[in-house]
Amino acid sequence: MTKRLYIKTYGCQMNVYDSARMTELMAPIGYVPTPTAAGADLVILNTCHIREKAAEKVYSELGAIRRLKQAKEKSGERMVVAVAGCVAQAEGAEIMARAPIVDIVFGPQAYHRLPEMVARATRAGGGVLDTSFPAEPKFDYLPERADSAAVSAFLTIQEGCDKFCTFCVVPYTRGAEFSRPAAEILAEARRLVAAGAREITLLGQNVNAYHGAALPGREGPGGEWGLGRLIRALADMPGVARIRYTTSHPRDVDDELVAAHRDVAALMPFLHLPVQSGSDRVLAAMNRRHSTDDYRRTVARLREARPDLALSSDFIVGFPGESDSDFQATIALVREVGFAQAFSFKYSPRPGTPAAADGRQVPDMVKDERLAELQALLRQQQREFNRASVGRLLPVLFEKPGRHPGQLVGRSPHLQSVHANAADTCIGAIMPVRIDSAEGNSLAGTIAADGAGAA
Ligand code: SAH
Ligand code: SF4
Ligand code: F3S
Repeated sequence: MTKRLYIKTYGCQMNVYDSARMTELMAPIGYVPTPTAAGADLVILNTCHIREKAAEKVYSELGAIRRLKQAKEKSGERMVVAVAGCVAQAEGAEIMARAPIVDIVFGPQAYHRLPEMVARATRAGGGVLDTSFPAEPKFDYLPERADSAAVSAFLTIQEGCDKFCTFCVVPYTRGAEFSRPAAEILAEARRLVAAGAREITLLGQNVNAYHGAALPGREGPGGEWGLGRLIRALADMPGVARIRYTTSHPRDVDDELVAAHRDVAALMPFLHLPVQSGSDRVLAAMNRRHSTDDYRRTVARLREARPDLALSSDFIVGFPGESDSDFQATIALVREVGFAQAFSFKYSPRPGTPAAADGRQVPDMVKDERLAELQALLRQQQREFNRASVGRLLPVLFEKPGRHPGQLVGRSPHLQSVHANAADTCIGAIMPVRIDSAEGNSLAGTIAADGAGAA
């Protein structure tokens, strides 16, 4: 009997990956994805705890789901509601207390047990809670992925974080750093390529801290691979046209990774390398373990290896104790480095993190002003970067239909969205596109007739 499964995903790409794996896990027992929560047999909210707003969204969504669940019960049917992800990990049983309609709460490291949890919740009624960090890695218990894959597919290679930046919940919600064995990652990549993927984005909260055993069970020094080596092996795999990785930490950019940027053509010239602040005082208080000069040197090494490398970053404004001159140092660093795009956030105190207890919280109005100033500069840099593409021929990997009929959307090597008129058969192909215009975040162009510039 088929059952309908609705998953709503919040937060980072790692959650997107986890949601895809949960869908695959439930398929053999009859769960088919459905695009809305209304009428679904199983609703999963895969949540994010990174900032207060992200966490609050879950509770407002649960309010809407309560009505849908009641409607389904009126017709004599059951809707099982699960909260997964980082809010589940951080708040656990509190969620059931605050939202009694929730049947199951489980963290990011326990989702391989989902079929069993759903069975228990269905049988017994009452809540099921699993926010453990199980000794068995979940990857050993997930089905092998074989069905259809997106043209651009995510592949988690590393989980958790040992860095403990003083503002961040990730080390608490995702647990200790763990790298999957290289052989297992390559096998998964092979299956993704066989299922239609052309681009693979390697994921981890600290993806460049990757240090996986070559083979499962061969952990320990000597037999370990770094990210650079993994990228080379992936590039040698037939069918892999493009490789990306995210999110990397400035401290873990080693020579092997820099060399991969120099030598591996399939490794795209775009890197998300969060710096958070341009003030050394603030970076130290954040426990980032790098200075602004370390960041400058790392960027210089990468740009020397790959001169067309474009950068992206994350910034936090209004970290406790951030003065006007600290903030102006961030503005100065942005001007100096230059970013193709970036994300910026107001500091949000997170329960249990050291910075939340700092007495020097910055008033919200000041955070608002700083964020507006920073975002105006970042937007300007993004516009300039995109405008510089106009008139150029870019190899675009088409991923899906665009908003208008006859149009496809794809990505340039620099991760810019590119719209162009093309037949659906071009999905999954890399085509040369002459860029005609740049608007906001995206580019529009025309497929070049001569085929030059294709990759
Ligand atoms: N592992 C990555 C990013 C993790 S979270 C890294 O080390 O860079 C993604 C981004 O959210 C962070 O880079 C940071 O800019 C932002 N962020 C994390 N905690 C935050 C908080 N408490 N308030 C505001 N922004 C935060
Ligand atoms: Fe959070 Fe810092 Fe770890 Fe990134 S490196 S996940 S910001 S603790
Ligand atoms: Fe959010 Fe968890 Fe990702 S807190 S950013 S979903 S690791």
